[in-house]
Amino acid sequence: MLSGRLPHDLEPNAWARLLEARRAAGAALLDLAETNPTHVGLGGAGLEELAALAQAAGARYEPDPRGCRAAREVVAGYYAARGLVVDPERVVLTASTSESYTHLFRLLADPGGTFLVPAPSYPLFEPLAQLEGVTLRPYRLAWDGAWHLDTDSLERACGDDVRGVIVVQPNHPTGSCLDGAERELLAALCRRHGAAIVADEVFGDFTRGAEPLASFVGEARVPTFVLSGLSKVCGMPQMKLGWIVVDGPPAERATALRGLEWIADLFLSVSTPVQVALPRLLAARGPFQARVRERLARNLAALGRLVAARPELEVMAAQGGWAAVLRVPRLRSDEDWALALLERDVVVHPGHFYDFTDEGHLVLSLIPEPDVFHAGVARIAEVAAVT
Ligand SMILES: Cc1ncc(COP(=O)(O)O)c(C=O)c1O
Repeated sequence: MLSGRLPHDLEPNAWARLLEARRAAGAALLDLAETNPTHVGLGGAGLEELAALAQAAGARYEPDPRGCRAAREVVAGYYAARGLVVDPERVVLTASTSESYTHLFRLLADPGGTFLVPAPSYPLFEPLAQLEGVTLRPYRLAWDGAWHLDTDSLERACGDDVRGVIVVQPNHPTGSCLDGAERELLAALCRRHGAAIVADEVFGDFTRGAEPLASFVGEARVPTFVLSGLSKVCGMPQMKLGWIVVDGPPAERATALRGLEWIADLFLSVSTPVQVALPRLLAARGPFQARVRERLARNLAALGRLVAARPELEVMAAQGGWAAVLRVPRLRSDEDWALALLERDVVVHPGHFYDFTDEGHLVLSLIPEPDVFHAGVARIAEVAAVT
């Protein structure tokens, strides 16, 4: 009955089954896989932001496929505050970054068309691509004490069949960003092969060093689509508002915008009240981001202290984002690690969920409540001690 766009097997995997069973048994879980800010006391929308949804302008319906001009200007203002020039005419509002990806898969590729994706990275690419009937080919990020783009792997993966190269920075979960030479190589390869750049910068405000993210906004050589949204910028995933900034050479940019507008017109998926409220919602990002930064620093420090006492554990250095990758002994598979920890009521993701190719990686969210995070990490250290 179901199309081949869906997975053959819709049954949950062993880890998800055990998680469900632990929840059903009423276990007091220490959830270090939680990335929903509204579940950990970090939701960005207070009563004032919610009140901004109730404005008279929200009672009218005057749809614009790209989103109303005033809301697009607010998005341009967000970039201006980061020193980046964005023309509101080149902003397309969507319901989420996931929707932005699906629009771009449809915009750039025929069924079967190929996109390159980083590995390890965000696990939702695969099902989104499958649903849209496009093919993903990985290029590797390599670790040698720091994360780098594996340039050989990118060059090998890139051919004339590639419609777009996805980059995530800071990447989830490695927290890595491309350096200047890597960005140059990527742009040159895309130009040579006629591929677009799709830059997911949802964590762009959460770099750890003094340097702000070197954004792909302003990339003029190659058709470029920069994705972000309220989910991570403001801690408001429930508002369902994301955006695409379209850059690149003027003629290709204009063609891409016409195509995106046509696709968005079929859905008109962003609600009017959220667009009307956008100035107030985006204005709330400052206090939200300050609280998240404080949480990230506190949890990272706790992780650092616990790991320092256990030489068999290592936190992989990162430049940003909301996650930490913990290296654990390969005496058991990362799946077995995650299952063993779940038996002890600690929820972490095994590395293979994110396409780590070798064993010994656990992915931890850095935004859980500090008490929960600390207790969870202490339990990981206990389990490591007896492994
Ligand atoms: C790298 C990355 N991109 C996109 C998203 C999804 O964002 P949205 O809630 O806007 O769909 C996430 C969510 O965790 C993410 O980690």
